[in-house]
Amino acid sequence: MRNTPMENIIVIFGATGDLTMRKLLPALTRLKKNNDIGRLSKVVAVGRRSFDTAAYLDYVTKNAPETPDIKTLKDMVDYVKTDIGHVDDFMRLKEHLRAMSGPKTVTLYYFAVSPSLFPVIAGNIHQVGLVQKGDKQARIIFEKPFGNSLESATAINDALYEAFDEHQIYRIDHYLGKEMIQNLLTVRFANRIFEDVWHNRTIKNVKIIVKETDGVLNRGAYYDDAGALSDMIQSHLLQMLSLVAMDTPMSYHSTDVKKEKIKVLEHIAFEPKQSLFGQYAGYTKEHDVAPDSKTETFVFLKALVNTPRFKGVPFYLMTGKKLEVKQSMIIIEFEETNEQRKWKLPLSTNKLIIKIAPLDGVGLMLNSKVPGLKDAVHEVELEYCVACQAVGNMPEAYEKLLLDAFFGHKSLFADWCEIERSWRFVDSIRKTSYDLMIYDHYDALYEQIITLTGEVI
Ligand code: BG6
Repeated sequence: MRNTPMENIIVIFGATGDLTMRKLLPALTRLKKNNDIGRLSKVVAVGRRSFDTAAYLDYVTKNAPETPDIKTLKDMVDYVKTDIGHVDDFMRLKEHLRAMSGPKTVTLYYFAVSPSLFPVIAGNIHQVGLVQKGDKQARIIFEKPFGNSLESATAINDALYEAFDEHQIYRIDHYLGKEMIQNLLTVRFANRIFEDVWHNRTIKNVKIIVKETDGVLNRGAYYDDAGALSDMIQSHLLQMLSLVAMDTPMSYHSTDVKKEKIKVLEHIAFEPKQSLFGQYAGYTKEHDVAPDSKTETFVFLKALVNTPRFKGVPFYLMTGKKLEVKQSMIIIEFEETNEQRKWKLPLSTNKLIIKIAPLDGVGLMLNSKVPGLKDAVHEVELEYCVACQAVGNMPEAYEKLLLDAFFGHKSLFADWCEIERSWRFVDSIRKTSYDLMIYDHYDALYEQIITLTGEVI
């Protein structure tokens, strides 16, 4: 007897991997429980290991960093053993999916594997006819990093285009699913006080900062090949930069917004002499890391966006592992007021702070008189905290992105043109020779940044 067709199916390649355990299964569980992806959704976990579904769920219980909701997962998950190098296994997978699909079923294929495996999986999917090129109900999601240079990314992309159309391809950058990144354009364009001052006549500099306390954890093999430039700068930090620096789009449709973001990526440069690369002490002793590795775990870049709007404004990009705090934010610092300059008043500058993690929100730093009889001024913050206003739990980035992929909304996914331009920039950095500062304390890095740029991070 044929089963009732599923409305939505997600097939995960890399079912025992870190991303599936840490992000995908928890996000799918929450979407299922909140009934956000339809009642009849199914997760088809694909892996090489000889598990049945019960053994797979047992593996998830033992290996997921946070206790999984096994009751919900039991209702959703099927494990299908598949060796991604074997075409016959893809035939079996196709049969499995056909048995649960109907004419309206939307199927997402999530490639939660190393990018070097993308072409192999795509090729086998194509060969057995699991997905037809152009089929609007089949969407393919790729994890970042998409390649590790422009050359490798282009090769991967060309291989994918053999099997899929651009409109079927969803390239994930999970930062785009974060609440405050989604909110960035609203803050910029829906508020007169910011819209009118968003240019080089009033903005002094922009800092885009992603600090992490963890090291590479169990991802040494991947990270040692990628480094912070490929792991963070090419994707998350350049996406944030392009949203901050873009011009007003013709409309807020995905294509118009992307057009403006791409223009920014085409006009960025960096100052090698005012940039800094570091590696945390002990990194070369991490599991799966080469003992003589020169991979950077910390990057500070002084970037410039050479567009009429932002010419001359430094964009400081900073990201690193083993720093003092887990924190992501964008700080837009405004110029001093004329009075402040004229009288050389010891006042602070205004700053708009887009807080991304740990708490989402917006802060605006202002000068204000100290209350009482003293004739003094201090810096105060007007603050909006997203979580404090939200009802119930805030969805995580992966929930938003998976939901958008199920609904076919592409604006929070990176197009090939964005990926291509950002690799061009990262490749240009890699071509310059730079020293690697070994740090066992973040203070040494921040002091060096002050020496190089005068900026306090
Ligand atoms: C991932 C990187 O894309 O982003 C990781 O591969 C990094 O190395 C992570 O730790 C940071 O994301 P978040 O959401 O924790 O700031």
